[in-house]
Amino acid sequence: MDLHKNAKDVINQIAIVVRTSQIHDANNVAIASSISKIVSMINMLLDKESLIHLELRGELFYINEYRIRYSLEYLLNFDFLVREFKKRDLGSVTFKNQLKTEDIKTFTRAFITAPFSDEPFDVFQEKMSAIQNIEIGRLKKIVEDEDSFDVRKMIKRSYFNAVSHTRGIMNKVKSGEKVNIKKAKRIMESMVDHILEEEQLLLGMTAIKDYDEYTYHHSVNVSILSIALGQRLGISRKMLTELGMVALFHDTGKTEVPPEVLNKPTNFTDDEWKIIKKHPMWGLRAILKLKNLDELTMKSAIASFEHHMNIDHTGYPTVRLKTELDLFSRIVSLADQYDAMTSSRVYSRTPLPPDKALSIMMERSGTQLDPLLFKFFINMVGVYPIGTVVMLDSKELGLVSESNQLFPTRPRVLLIIDRQGNRMTGHIVDLTEKDEQDHYMRSIIKTIDPNKYKINLAEYLL
Ligand SMILES: [Fe+2]
Ligand SMILES: [Fe+2]
Repeated sequence: MDLHKNAKDVINQIAIVVRTSQIHDANNVAIASSISKIVSMINMLLDKESLIHLELRGELFYINEYRIRYSLEYLLNFDFLVREFKKRDLGSVTFKNQLKTEDIKTFTRAFITAPFSDEPFDVFQEKMSAIQNIEIGRLKKIVEDEDSFDVRKMIKRSYFNAVSHTRGIMNKVKSGEKVNIKKAKRIMESMVDHILEEEQLLLGMTAIKDYDEYTYHHSVNVSILSIALGQRLGISRKMLTELGMVALFHDTGKTEVPPEVLNKPTNFTDDEWKIIKKHPMWGLRAILKLKNLDELTMKSAIASFEHHMNIDHTGYPTVRLKTELDLFSRIVSLADQYDAMTSSRVYSRTPLPPDKALSIMMERSGTQLDPLLFKFFINMVGVYPIGTVVMLDSKELGLVSESNQLFPTRPRVLLIIDRQGNRMTGHIVDLTEKDEQDHYMRSIIKTIDPNKYKINLAEYLL
């Protein structure tokens, strides 16, 4: 057993025990075997280390001061455990001596029952008082500290970097110059890394729609949404990079649409629509012209050609042989529709609030959109996606800043207008928070169209 190599297994195993204990009772066979796995794992680690200190900082786990890297296969269990720790105000667990099965059993029992009280951490600690080998510590609250500020800055930089490269690439395609695919690939690789670690921040970047030159932002947004969706499907890191590239190039054909049509502030005429509808075909042609005809180029060409077709072939272009669309095309068209509908510069002139866009997509699910992929998509962006403006029963107005996978209707919300109607900044509330009577402090009453209140999302999310 190696501490660094097996750290993620420890997290994973604890998550499994907690998860199964929430469903089954303590005498269940599955729980018993998971518990004995943890015991032997930690005891083996304790052969080499004097203690094992597991700590949650922000969204990341550290083991003996070493940051545990997210790994794709364990992602869901990691996120789950982060949330469970936070619910109990639990910040660290220290294993000090060789464990017995009974130690972990007590720990699990305390862990499961703690959140049902007002002071979950105190109750937790009390229930653990008889256990000498395990010590727990309270969660240190970080309020937008230096670290998370730096992470935000880094994410912003890499997002805008991707946009500016996309602009460069599209201009080269337009003028027929050679495109540096390797560079695009490197950018996508780092994007995939960021999405695996800071998904919410990047999804937040895609929620801001009033950028200049929206076309390039759109391409990057569709990449981010596609990668985030692909990640949930369990696609490998290498394929996620490919998916991101394919998504980035999905609208390449638009470089040939005259800018006066593309950027027209009013609705398209029939003739203009005819031109717009050619962009999948033009994209296919432009990508095939890139010459290095490898697998990635082919995949990009296919997605460019298919992304408006719809799975029932009711879209465009129409083809005689109605075969099933490629997986990447189906992912990209979901991401594309969502981003296009929620922005004001692609096709429709009035941007839809995210939840409205989702309900339109819901109607298309099963006919035009892949229903299974759509389920994953909803799960990813949440019932109230980041950037949704919501009215709370506390008479405050807020902006959804982070979704909650377990309680989709209770995201984290940045308050923007207080009870008296005054603007406010910097105050984030968690809608799962309850008062002493066990009532939720705040709940969402309805969503609000940000345009009506002249709310500029960039002001809050950037
Ligand atoms: Fe398109
Ligand atoms: Fe698009």
